[in-house]
Parts: sequence; structure tokens; C-alpha cells
Amino acid sequence: MDPHRSPRRRRVLAAAATGLAAAAGAVFAVGTADAASTLGASAAATGRYFGTAVAAYKLSDATYSGILDREFTSVTPENEMKWDATEPTQGTFSFGSADQIVAQAKAIGAKVRGHALAWHSQQPGWAQNLSGTALRNAMVNHVTQVATHYKGQIDSWDVVNEAFADGGSGARRDSNLQRTGNDWIEVAFRTARAADPGAKLCYNDYNTDGQNAKSNAVYAMVQDFKARGVPIDCVGFQSHFNSASPLPSDYQANLQRFANLGVDVQITELDIEGSGTAQANSYAAAVRACLAVTRCNGITVWGIRDSDSWRASGTPLLFDSSGNKKPAYTAALDALNGGTTTPTTPTTPTTPTSPPPTSSSPPPPTGSGCTATISLNQWNGGFVATVRVTAGSARIGGWTVGVTLPSGSAVSNSWNAQASGTSFSNVAYNGSVNAGASTEFGFQGTGTGPTAASCTAR
Ligand code: XIL
Repeated sequence: MDPHRSPRRRRVLAAAATGLAAAAGAVFAVGTADAASTLGASAAATGRYFGTAVAAYKLSDATYSGILDREFTSVTPENEMKWDATEPTQGTFSFGSADQIVAQAKAIGAKVRGHALAWHSQQPGWAQNLSGTALRNAMVNHVTQVATHYKGQIDSWDVVNEAFADGGSGARRDSNLQRTGNDWIEVAFRTARAADPGAKLCYNDYNTDGQNAKSNAVYAMVQDFKARGVPIDCVGFQSHFNSASPLPSDYQANLQRFANLGVDVQITELDIEGSGTAQANSYAAAVRACLAVTRCNGITVWGIRDSDSWRASGTPLLFDSSGNKKPAYTAALDALNGGTTTPTTPTTPTTPTSPPPTSSSPPPPTGSGCTATISLNQWNGGFVATVRVTAGSARIGGWTVGVTLPSGSAVSNSWNAQASGTSFSNVAYNGSVNAGASTEFGFQGTGTGPTAASCTAR
């Protein structure tokens, strides 16, 4: 986990705890064991948030915002932060509707889940028509501009949404973004980290709620990102359920196996088609699964009333179209409160990641140098450079890469390296590179990026 994340998270937790103490003080003072009576307060008592997708144009509807303000402690703009909404014309950004939602969240003390920086869907027409380097650069610029605009205000960003194919292939989804190169996902994450180091960065997808070929592929990606130091903090499970795609029996186990990789997990777009007891039971099961996983931070339902849903005919939400609480609401609330009143032994991810196998023989000798190659994402006014350091014919014990920047350009952030001006040295975990093997670091800057680098080995 990046050390720079901790202070912010502590602040957020402390703020939540203070709010809770104030809100629940009266209840505790009279000694009532009943836990809180709203979704948000009940979730907060377990250290979690309970959120909803919000549409800016509905904020003026009194029933809608009345429920929002009363029940929810996190909001996700349903469409307002998507690429088509925030950059309708290339290079011209439009944040009005999303800003409205963020302001409302602030007013009620709710977190904001940013959704979604890079996605094959809901792209503006101009981006749909781009490919190759032009699209890659446009994506990097988009991620940078949007994440910078909301810097410090986002709890978690869905940096990349729905990048894997359905079915048994375990492959990436074909899209214009995927065709810019397999590294588009990690480039998006690195770019987001550079723009807003305080936000948790999530990968978000659907049909990944249970263990299957698609979730296995996401799992492998997260494992690889953690191994290579690509910044990822969380995985979002959309959890759109209906009779054809019900809540999987291994939902909790699947959340837990991701958490065991060292990321947080979040239920990000929960809706369950149906009605009555069956729907209520499924909601309760979804809530219980999150509560049983220590690193499950919170649950977001994808809308408030059934009539607000993107699939309204399936009546998949917690409030009916008039804003009345449904049995599903009561079941979700009870499940949240069960989490506070039933002393459960938290399930601990017990298998600690085993350390890399140690060898009793000394490491092979070092010394035959290294090479550095740069891949550059350049846009008007800025760049992200990813540098691959490859050891020569012998293992190296450390490296320093020097780059030459055109005058007027400057480095603003780097990752997986110690930067000093335009010189970048290994950090503790990536200095040792075996013969012929490589490691990567990156940096972001303003102006025009470097095209050449020299590598010195130790
Ligand atoms: C949906 C919105 O709810 C609709 O209003 C919009 O027309 C289409 O997108 N997965 C996602 C969400 O990540 O962004 C989608 O939201 C639902 C599926």
C-alpha cells in the first residue's frame, strides 16, 4: 500500500467516526441496543459507507433528494463524470452537472465515488473516432484533466470500467482503447495516481461478482499490478443481479480472494431485479457478504427509487417509485444492523502472502550494464513516460536512468523510482534485476517528454 495514502484515509475515518458519534450519541446515551435507523448510519457503525448513484437533474426533486440526504453517505454520479459528459469536445471540459453532485455530497457529508475515467462506452463521438497514439494521448489527457479537477474530493475513482470480455475466454474486451495496446489500463491508473494521489484507484466490472473466467482474469491483472507496482487500491463489483444472473453463492468468497491480494473491494452498482421477500433476501445476502469481508469498504446501489433505475421495469431498488421503503430496504437495513449487534469474528485473510523463495546461495554477480527504453504518452502541454529498465547479460543490483528533457519541460511526479531532477534511481524493491529481465518506472511532466534515456547499473 502506498504510504502516502494513509493520512488521508485516517482523516476520512476520523471524520466519519465523529459524525457518527454525534448522530448516534442520543441512542447510545439511553442505552438502546438498536443500531442506527438509516442505511448510511448503520453502515457507518460498521466503518463502511452506503451509497447511491445520483443523477444531477433529479436533485431538484424533493422526494429524491430527501431520501438521498437522509439515507446515503456516498454518491456516484450516474452519468455526469463519464467521458461524453466531461469532455464533449476534445480539450473542452464540462464539469457543471458533476460539480453539482459533488457539491450536494459535500453538503450532506457524503463521499464521492468517481465514475468512470476510461471506458469503452459513453465516449464522446470524437473519441470513438480516434485510434492508436491519438486515442492513447487523448485518454491520458482526459484522465489527467478530470482527476485533477476533482483532486482531493474523490474517495475512490473507477479508473477503468469493464475492460474484460464476458464468457470463458478471460480475454480483454475488444475496444478502441484496448487496440491502443494492452498497457492502456496501467497507463490510466498511473496517470490517475499522478493527478490525484489521495484518491483510491479502482478497477470496476460486472459479471465478476462470483468466481468465473472473467473474474479470474481480473484477479490475475490485479495480482500482476501489485507485483509490478502499478498503482491500484480497489476493485469494484457492479453487482447487477436478476434471475438470469443471480447473486452468486460464492460472492463473499470472491470478494475475499480479491481483498487477500491487498486491495479494497467495493460493491459499486448494486441492483437486484424482483420484488417482495425474494428480493429482500438477496439484498440482505449482498450486505452480509460485504460486512463479512474486512476490506469491503461500502455498498452503492444504482439509484434510489425503482423509477430512477436504468432498468426500472425490473423494480430493482430499495424504494418504490413513490419513495416508500420496500421490503428490500428493511432487509438491507437489518443486515447492516446485524453487522453491528451480532459479534462476529471478522474473517481474516489468513494466508499471508508468502515471501519470495529465498535462496541460500549468494546472488549472482552483477555488472554488465542495463538499457532503458521510453514509451511516451504525449499530449498538448504534458506527457507520461513509462521507462523500461532491462538488465544486460548479468544481474544488476541497482540502476540510475538519466533522461534529457527539452528546455521548458519539467518532471512533476514519478512512481517506482527515486527522482532527482531528470535522474531516476531504483527504490528498495526494484533495484535487483536479473540478467535479461526488466522492471518499469514512470513519470509525468509538463511540456514535451523525453525520447531517449541512458541507464547506468550498479
Ligand atoms: C448506466 C446509467 O445508469 C444509465 O443512465 C446510462 O444510460 C447507461 O449507463 N455499468 C456502469 C454504469 O458502469 O455506468 C452504467 O450506468 C450501468 C452499467
